[in-house]
Order: sequence, then C-alpha cells, then structure tokens
Amino acid sequence: MAFESEIAKRKTFAIIAHPDAGKTTLTEKFLLFGGQIQTAGAVKSNKITKATTSDFMEIEKQRGISVATSVMSFHYKNKWVNILDTPGHKDFAEDTYRTLTAVDSVILVVDCVKGVEEQTEKLMEVCRMRNTPVIVFVNKMDRDGKDPFDLLEELEGKLNIGVHPMSWPINGGKDFKGVYLLHNQSLNLFESSKTKKADDVVKINGLADTQLDKILNPKDASKLRDDAELIEGVYGDLPSEDYLAGKTAPVFFGSALNSFGIQELLDTFIEIAPNPLPRATTKRDVEPNEPKFSGFIFKIHANLDPKHRDRIAFLRVCSGKFERNKNFKHVRLEKQMKFANPYLFLAQSKEVMEDAYPGDVVGLYDTGNFKIGDTLTEGESFIFKGIPSFSPEIFKELINIDPMKSKQLEKGIQQLTDEGLASLFVQELGNRKFVGTVGELQFEVLQYRLEHEYGAKCRFEARSIYKACWMSGTEADLKDFMKYRQNNIAYDKDNQPVFLAETGFILRMAEEKYPDITFHTTSEFKV
Ligand code: G4P
Repeated sequence: MAFESEIAKRKTFAIIAHPDAGKTTLTEKFLLFGGQIQTAGAVKSNKITKATTSDFMEIEKQRGISVATSVMSFHYKNKWVNILDTPGHKDFAEDTYRTLTAVDSVILVVDCVKGVEEQTEKLMEVCRMRNTPVIVFVNKMDRDGKDPFDLLEELEGKLNIGVHPMSWPINGGKDFKGVYLLHNQSLNLFESSKTKKADDVVKINGLADTQLDKILNPKDASKLRDDAELIEGVYGDLPSEDYLAGKTAPVFFGSALNSFGIQELLDTFIEIAPNPLPRATTKRDVEPNEPKFSGFIFKIHANLDPKHRDRIAFLRVCSGKFERNKNFKHVRLEKQMKFANPYLFLAQSKEVMEDAYPGDVVGLYDTGNFKIGDTLTEGESFIFKGIPSFSPEIFKELINIDPMKSKQLEKGIQQLTDEGLASLFVQELGNRKFVGTVGELQFEVLQYRLEHEYGAKCRFEARSIYKACWMSGTEADLKDFMKYRQNNIAYDKDNQPVFLAETGFILRMAEEKYPDITFHTTSEFKV
C-alpha cells in the first residue's frame, strides 16, 4: 500500500517554452510555492543565452550549472512534484526532446506579446507524437499583448491541439486587473509582487453579482460578462479525458514575474496532471505499480572537471522501487550493477538517496557504462521504447589531425556521442565518421572536449547531407538499396543502417525508385 501511495503522490513534468517566454521564472515560482527556496532569484538560470560560437567555454560552464537544475523536486499539498528542466538554447533541442520522454506531462509557457513562437511549435510536435498532456500558461499579462481570443485561436491553429480556458484575463498590460477563474467563479485580482506565495481570491456570486461592478468598474465588468458568456458557450466543462489523451490543453493566464496566477496553475496541475504512466518496452508495457524495478537513462551529463571523466546519468524510474546498493541489470551490457551513491535532486542541491519510486529521477555516477536510452531492470530483459534519435540538421565529417592519438579520438567521439551531444554515423568502408547536430555550437564543444578531455585533435569538414534516414521495408529491397547506395549508407550507434541523402531531390528519387521502402527521419518508427 505504501508503495502504491508513493506512486499516487508523484507528478513528473517539464516546463517547455521558446527562450525568454518565462520558463526559468515560472520554475522558480513553483519552487517558491513548494517551499524549496525562500527568495526569488535563488535558482540559477539554465539558459544558454548570450553565448556566441566563440564563447563555448561559457556555454559549457552554463551547461554545468544546468546539472544542478536538471531535476528539481518538492512537496506541495501532499504531492511530490518532479520538474525536469530543459535547456533553453535551440542548439540543444535534442536534449529537450529526450527529456520529454521521461515526463508524464508538460506545462507550456507562451509569452502573450509574442504568441506561439518557432521553438514552441517544435516542442509541441514532440509532445503530440507522444500524446503528452499539456497545460498552457500564457505569461507576461502585465504587458500589452495579443487579444486573448486571438491567442487561443493561434494556440489551436499552430499547435494542433484543442484549448480550454481555465481562467480569463481582465484587460492586459498596464490595465491588467487580474483573472476570472471560470471553474469556481471567483476573481483573482492582480497585484504586482515578486515574492508572494498566494493569491487572495475574491469569491463572487456568479457574474451577475453587482459586486463585480464595484470591484472592477462597470465597463470592465460588462466586458468580462460578455467574454465569459462566449467562453462558457464555446468551451463548457474541461473534458479531462481529452486533456489526459493530449488532445485538449487547459489554458491559464498570469504573470510569472509577479507571482500572479501561479497558485491556480499549480493547484490545478497537481489535481489533474497524470501520475506516473505505463511505458512501452520492446517486450510489453510496464506498469508503474509492478513490484520489480525498471527504468531508463534519458540524459547523461559530463563532469565539468576534465580531470575526472565521470559523468552523471539521469535515470527515470518506471516501475518498482530503485534502491541504493541493490543489484540491477544493465540490459544492453547484460551486466549487474549497483550504485553506492545515487543522487536525488532538490532545488539547489543533490543528496544521496536510499530509494526512489516510479516518476522519480535518480542521478547515477557513470564511468562510461551508459548511453542514452539504456534500460536497467531487476532481471528481465527488455528495452524502453520511445527515446528516438532525430535526423540532425548539420553534418560534418570528423577528420583526425593527430594520427598518434587515433585511439583517444575514437574513444572520445564514442563517449561524447553516447552523452547525446551529437549523432554519430560510421561508414563501414574506410571507417569514415559523420557527426550530425542540430546547431553549429556542438561542433565547437566537441572539438574542445575531445582535445581537453581525451587529448585528441580533430577538425570537422562540412558535408552536404540533407537528412539521415532510417529505413523500413522488405529485406530484399533494403539489401538491394544498400548495395545501390553503398557510398551513402552509414551505421548509427545502435548499428542500424542509415541513408545519408545529399539533397531532398536525391531522397525523392530514392523513394520513387524504391516505393516499398519507407525513409524515416527518426530512428523509432512504427512499421
Ligand atoms: P526563459 O527561461 O523562458 O528563457 O525566460 P526567463 O524566465 O528567463 O524570462 C525571460 C525574461 O522575461 C526575463 O527578463 C524575465 O524577468 C521576464 N519575465 C518573466 N515573466 C514575466 C512576466 O510575467 N512579466 C514580465 N513583464 N516579464 C517577465 P530579462 O530582463 O531577460 O531577465 P532578468 O534580468 O529579469 O532576469
């Protein structure tokens, strides 16, 4: 029973946003409400903002900070909330996609002035792929932003998801008066404060209450009545099954900087967000309440000190109980492992923990045993699915410039790509190595770390490759195609063949010539 109630307490989620929408500020306010920090400004930003390609050391330093803020856990109203942080910089988007495999729901922050931005759309595509439940927080209502009805339309149109307003703003910008809470017909009046921990909510007797004209003013009260009538007519009650299925997103309005609207967001979140969900594996679906432990690695972080090459692997517990010093099976390596110092992450610190439950994230010291997607179990052999690689956008060939250090280079590139910093594709012929990333920044980080951590010198030469495509089809077709395009076939880290198509035209030609082969831009696909 104790085990089941621990699971029922867990809410594991990520806050996602286009950079600058207010993710860091909102995270901090959650921690403030959860009592994990006492003052605003205490959480270091995990943002890699002002970095240019020439100060990648600064980026590494900031990535280091992000270890501390990778996972933040706190108690709130008898729930145990785990927030998984995601990097803000677009060059590290894949880190974010992988983190999304380890959560059960997300809160999406949208800036009311800018509306839905590019990165928001990309992140939501990943959530849609996995049917992740989403709550939207429209932030910065203290600024003159877009009309709320237009914003709802934009959210639906660009994010391909239904929306359901839970609160409704009364004006915006300097005239912002607060929000009307649709579900319990109360008013949350805006007052600017960076540190408060609760909002004073004014109960009214429905919108017809004449109090409303006094609290607001007759003009604002009348507009609110009109807006609310329209909303109630269109949206009705929140279809909670649609939220849990990732089809409808409840929407809140507020201002993270002013700690406004956080309370209702957090209270609704802990009430409706899913507890740890079952997860698919290569063998069967694993339920969180199964007695035996299982989990997977979704993120690996290098140690900042180059003298210590150990790393921290982040494990999401999926079923059973993770225990310190207990033997578990590393399925890919078929090896037993136990962990003397597993870490639990709190807002600003990490501490050694004894046990962890489904939904929790554990930090494991790693000396090179793990790569992203690895599964640990209590004996059974299966691998968790749903941790795909995506086709990179920039491809370069790795050229060794110090032949005396080939071994170090080989080891370095393997380990750094195990961390998920970039994708590695190796050609059988001549052992040529192509490295793919989503941004230029990673090449500089790779080159620097190869030299400083492994003593290997290299350079990267640009290659015109349009997409890396994983393939499915009949064995005969695949064999024929791979022979025909031999020079463009390479193998990913799981030894799966990949077609490195030089241009979109060449990819289309291949699709026409081999209509029975499907070319996929992610490594995981449904056949
Ligand atoms: P991010 O993690 O999503 O990138 O965003 P972050 O929280 O760092 O917020 C980006 C900027 O927006 C910050 O200002 C922050 O203070 C501001 N901000 C966040 N929420 C609100 C809000 O509700 N209203 C207003 N007006 N601003 C908000 P900055 O000047 O870039 O940084 P800082 O010097 O304030 O830290």
